[in-house]
Amino acid sequence: MSASSVTADGRARVLADGSQLPMLGLGVWQVPAGAACINAVRWALELGYRHIDTAQAYGNEESVGRALRDSGLPRDAVFITTKFFPSNRDPVAAAEQSLKRLDVDYIDLYLIHWPERGPTWAWPGMERALQRGSARAIGISNFGVGELEQVIAAGTVRPAVNQVEFNPVHYRRGLLDACLAQDVAVEAYSPLGTGRRLSDKTVRRVAERAGRTPAQVLLRWCLQHGLPVIPKSTHRDRIESNAQIFDFVLSAEDMTALDSLDKTKGTERALEHKWW
Ligand code: A2P
Repeated sequence: MSASSVTADGRARVLADGSQLPMLGLGVWQVPAGAACINAVRWALELGYRHIDTAQAYGNEESVGRALRDSGLPRDAVFITTKFFPSNRDPVAAAEQSLKRLDVDYIDLYLIHWPERGPTWAWPGMERALQRGSARAIGISNFGVGELEQVIAAGTVRPAVNQVEFNPVHYRRGLLDACLAQDVAVEAYSPLGTGRRLSDKTVRRVAERAGRTPAQVLLRWCLQHGLPVIPKSTHRDRIESNAQIFDFVLSAEDMTALDSLDKTKGTERALEHKWW
């Protein structure tokens, strides 16, 4: 990662095309459509989040769109990511459907959700969605190094982002290094390990030392590795405290202690198990 990859205020990751991905977003995986999702997104936007991460597979794009509309914020103030559900065949048609559900006229970032039926077949359609202006940037999610290399070799446009599960226990250093060498930003999903890492002994010890919550420590660890994070919560107080991660720094010693929790042996893979 070059020094210029994160803006001077630490708030955004500059993507290869020069656009900016806010370092903190609200993830809405496993948030049911309807009131739960509308409220979570509404609170996040009220509390200063400017980045929402959804997916066609989550079934809650309409709720995200509703909260965005209700917020009164201008469209260009909020970065919206959605993901192509690869059981479908056509990324262009699927993007059009997402635009309708989200009630927006472009998606900031459109990702292939996972490399089902191979890593490259959907990429030409993703490039068309970009050319048509349905998406401002395109990328991938859950792609390991070999899969990323195939997309780069086959495509005209290089993925701007690879969004993968990333937290101290899944410190995929090999994947991170390879992505950075290709100027592909890595974005961390499940930065709290879907909540499971919050009770880890080392995380708690670092949190006590820093005078912060375990969640803030896990999110800050990602930021200090240059990774945008998209923690999920449906609770207003947690959404609020998860955003308070720009006003402290973890020491080199704490970072090393957290790094050493890795159980992937610095893998180049994005996933331990396929789910499709
Ligand atoms: P909830 O939605 O009930 O607040 P991840 O982002 O890694 O997927 O983790 C999300 C999980 O962590 C959810 O179960 C969420 O629960 C929980 N969570 C999110 N933020 C916090 C927090 N600050 N403290 C405790 N649990 C949290």
